[in-house]
Amino acid sequence: MIESREIIDPLYDRCEAELFNPPAASWKDEWRKIRDDFLAVEQSQYKNPSSERLFRQRFQEPGTVVFLLRDTLIKKVVGFTYSIPLVNYAAGNGENFRKDIEREDDGRKTAYIMSTVILPDYTGHRLSPKLIGTLEDFLKERRGYRFVEFDVTKENGYADKVVENNKDRIVAGPISHDSSLGPQVFCRIKL
Ligand SMILES: CC(C)(COP(=O)(O)OP(=O)(O)OC[C@H]1O[C@@H](n2cnc3c(N)ncnc32)[C@H](O)[C@@H]1OP(=O)(O)O)[C@@H](O)C(=O)NCCC(=O)NCCS
Repeated sequence: MIESREIIDPLYDRCEAELFNPPAASWKDEWRKIRDDFLAVEQSQYKNPSSERLFRQRFQEPGTVVFLLRDTLIKKVVGFTYSIPLVNYAAGNGENFRKDIEREDDGRKTAYIMSTVILPDYTGHRLSPKLIGTLEDFLKERRGYRFVEFDVTKENGYADKVVENNKDRIVAGPISHDSSLGPQVFCRIKL
């Protein structure tokens, strides 16, 4: 059966996830190409957006994996998601790092999804699972990860939907908790 969104949602079809992983020598030039659109995405969704400096620093650290969401019709970056190794998140005292769960890999084969943001004009089109699914496939097939962890906002019932859609893969959680970004839900998922 053809899924209905393939017929009726051209926006879904024309937006593609794209790995952002330029070599060191051309990193600055490649960043300059996406910089304005990228920062506009972050600023569109957060009252206290993260700084360019923080993104530049994180994105160049070994182990960080960044996927952009690009509207291929107008060539514009309209969203992004990125992960870091869980061991780095723990070492950096990540706000939501959980010490109270069992990890069969001691966290060494686990990536932590730091953030997923989509421009408001593009939300509500199921583009976040498209983007995060591409990140997860890459982490598993190209980087050898076996698990991901993330904390998702409870706003607009988002966490409930993410938990429901991932219920067969959750190995720890869901755990509700407060964070600096408001109420969230933690999940650990098998890739
Ligand atoms: C969070 C955000 C990226 C979600 O995007 P969105 O366009 O509103 O939501 P989408 O239409 O892509 O996704 C909703 C659907 O995809 C599903 N989905 C989203 N991410 C998923 C995931 N990782 N795994 C499985 N399902 C997922 C949802 O369960 C939902 O399913 P439904 O069809 O049953 O309704 C977007 O609202 C945003 O940028 N918000 C501000 C920033 C933010 O809060 N980021 C998240 C921090 S936790």
